[in-house]
Amino acid sequence: MERFRGKAALVTGAAGGIGAAIVRRLRAEGATVAVADRDVCGIEAEAHLAGDLLDPAYADGLPGAAFELLGALDIVVNNAGVITRGAVTETTDADWTLSVGVNVEAPFRVCRAAIPILAHAGGGAIVNVSSCWGVRPGPNHAVYCMTKAAVASLTQCMGMDHARQNIRVNAVCPNEVNTPMLRTGFAKRGFDPDTAVAELGKTVPLGRIAEPEDIADVVLFLVSDAARYMCGALVEVNGGKPVG
Ligand SMILES: NC(=O)c1ccc[n+]([C@@H]2O[C@H](COP(=O)([O-])OP(=O)(O)OC[C@H]3O[C@@H](n4cnc5c(N)ncnc54)[C@H](O)[C@@H]3O)[C@@H](O)[C@H]2O)c1
Repeated sequence: MERFRGKAALVTGAAGGIGAAIVRRLRAEGATVAVADRDVCGIEAEAHLAGDLLDPAYADGLPGAAFELLGALDIVVNNAGVITRGAVTETTDADWTLSVGVNVEAPFRVCRAAIPILAHAGGGAIVNVSSCWGVRPGPNHAVYCMTKAAVASLTQCMGMDHARQNIRVNAVCPNEVNTPMLRTGFAKRGFDPDTAVAELGKTVPLGRIAEPEDIADVVLFLVSDAARYMCGALVEVNGGKPVG
């Protein structure tokens, strides 16, 4: 099935767990893809846009650069993200700047630059990667939850504001996913990542935490024509596990 033949996509955080799965699946279904991350060496894609999303000029310029290199832009996935743990009282200024910069300001900048390009071409689809922890509060990750709530709200607002331009903006909200973000967190806290992932899986009604492809498939649905009437939706992908 080649749902995305002739479509051009930009994916941020393309070197990470979920990002790499989104890129692989989009390309497998015919899309041409521009990959953005700090290091994009070794990622198979049609265009490579290395840079730091904390640099406003880089984030502002990404959609235009993708359009230039691919000759079109139909799909944008704001997937890059960072996680900082702890209560507010344990959150440093550096944690705040990093979290707000990567998780909120960068998707804002990328969307702001992408929307006129998509509109000029007659429409398009944007998916922002939020989190279940942005839709509902979770313990001990105050600023992370806040940033994911902010991008969820931005998604709902943009979903309304730009539907008339035939641009659909939606968000996917995963619970725990087996990626470097989760595994390095376990390793930092002294746990064996494989054991910790298996233990965590027992807390999920479906019996396992998500693999990156479980999230990528929902992202592909949201940017596909099958989701043509969805605007501003926050789609939880959680295996039946509530936040808590
Ligand atoms: N893994 C989970 O359990 C989980 C759960 C819910 C939501 N999410 C969200 O899914 C998204 C993808 O996360 P993942 O689990 O694949 O994590 P990951 O750490 O594997 O990938 C994140 C990617 O973002 C990139 N990135 C971070 N800061 C950047 C910057 N300043 N400039 C450019 N690129 C930058 C990283 O280099 C990395 O490749 C994130 O937005 C994350 O918050 C993850």
